[in-house]
Amino acid sequence: MATKRNHSTKWIILSLLLLTTTFSNSTKLKTTPSPLSDPTSLLAFKSKADINNHLNFTTKTPFCNWQGVECNGPKVVRLVLRSLDLGGVFASHTLSLLDQLRVLSLQNNSLTGAIPDLSGLFNLKTLFLDNNHFTGSLPLSLFTLHRLKTIDFSHNNLSGDIPIDFINLDRLYYLRLSFNAFNGTIPPFNQSSLRTFDVSGNNLSGAVPLTTTLSRFQPSSFALNPNLCGEIIRRECRPTTPFFAPTSPPTVGIGQSADVHGLIRQPYEKKHNRKAAIIGFSTGIVFLILSLTCFAVAVKKQRKKKERQKSSVN
Ligand SMILES: *[C@@H]1O[C@H](CO)[C@@H](O)[C@H](O)[C@H]1NC(C)=O
Ligand SMILES: *[C@@H]1O[C@H](CO)[C@@H](O)[C@H](O)[C@H]1NC(C)=O
Ligand SMILES: *[C@@H]1O[C@H](CO)[C@@H](O)[C@H](O)[C@H]1NC(C)=O
Ligand SMILES: *[C@@H]1O[C@H](CO)[C@@H](O)[C@H](O)[C@H]1NC(C)=O
Ligand SMILES: *[C@@H]1O[C@H](CO)[C@@H](O)[C@H](O)[C@H]1NC(C)=O
Ligand SMILES: *[C@@H]1O[C@H](CO)[C@@H](O)[C@H](O)[C@H]1NC(C)=O
Ligand SMILES: *[C@@H]1O[C@H](CO)[C@@H](O)[C@H](O)[C@H]1NC(C)=O
Repeated sequence: MATKRNHSTKWIILSLLLLTTTFSNSTKLKTTPSPLSDPTSLLAFKSKADINNHLNFTTKTPFCNWQGVECNGPKVVRLVLRSLDLGGVFASHTLSLLDQLRVLSLQNNSLTGAIPDLSGLFNLKTLFLDNNHFTGSLPLSLFTLHRLKTIDFSHNNLSGDIPIDFINLDRLYYLRLSFNAFNGTIPPFNQSSLRTFDVSGNNLSGAVPLTTTLSRFQPSSFALNPNLCGEIIRRECRPTTPFFAPTSPPTVGIGQSADVHGLIRQPYEKKHNRKAAIIGFSTGIVFLILSLTCFAVAVKKQRKKKERQKSSVN
């Protein structure tokens, strides 16, 4: 009896011990991987980005007192380094390791190179990288950051397309991509949360998608993209294939209403027109074959009649 109880007590203590170690391990991993990592990340960023040595980051003072840094406990939650003449690159594995960061602004500096992988910033809500010299395409890691509400990449030299993944950022409130070198088409943004949207001054093309959300924005949000068209910006989409292009300019009265009609139905009307043309063309061919057959039959009949007449005369 005594040995049995002793045995089970031992067992319980062992289980508890195992449970607590496992628990402490997992909580440790989740909240504070290492209290030293944030200042290390900030210094690594400074070493590549602050080539003119303006930032007062120094290990002599607590890092939460460094310029632009705001902490919650031992973690950086806001980093605002605006208009500080930063002139290097935003190196990867630096700021992207600040896993409790909510706000990052590097606005109005002279940072060059690509925007690095940001997937470590999974708590990020606000990202201002506008008015720098960033190049290259947008990192797809951006679209793993589901808390993002505010994104400003305007006035850089970013290129490539506007990834369709943007439509899955369902908290997006503010998006500025203006004055870059983006090309391709505009994805069908339809987040009801979206209040500010600007893609002007790029090289975007095709019809602006007629979604409920994009319809709320003024043509100025899309301006200075010479190859954009559609109802939202009140510019007709010209058919690209010459085969289906209009052959003559329409008359004034009818032309105007047709024009308005065309704008409203863009870009769906083009498809309908093409379908109609194909159906018409096919019907025509069938009709032609039928007529030819009838003609041939008629000719044969007439010839037979003539022959019969000849033979009856002879
Ligand atoms: C706790 O983490 C350490 C390494 O961080 C590992 O060696 C150990 O096996 C882990 N213990 C448990 C119970 O998960
Ligand atoms: C760094 O500069 C900021 C603003 O210029 C100032 O508020 C802060 O006290 C300075 N920190 C240190 C450690 O010098
Ligand atoms: C941008 O930064 C420069 C200094 O680098 C400053 O002169 C200018 O006023 C800033 N512009 C804005 C809009 O903050
Ligand atoms: C943008 O980048 C291209 C090369 O990718 C370069 O020719 C051009 O000068 C850059 N423009 C600006 C405003 O930095
Ligand atoms: C966008 O530009 C790149 C080169 O910068 C080019 O390879 C690509 O075909 C362009 N896309 C479109 C849709 O024009
Ligand atoms: C914009 O895209 C067109 C093709 O759609 C291309 O011919 C033109 O060079 C591009 N312009 C710029 C400034 O990249
Ligand atoms: C966009 O979202 C609205 C509701 O917010 C919905 O009514 C509409 O069908 C969606 N799609 C388009 C293409 O607008």
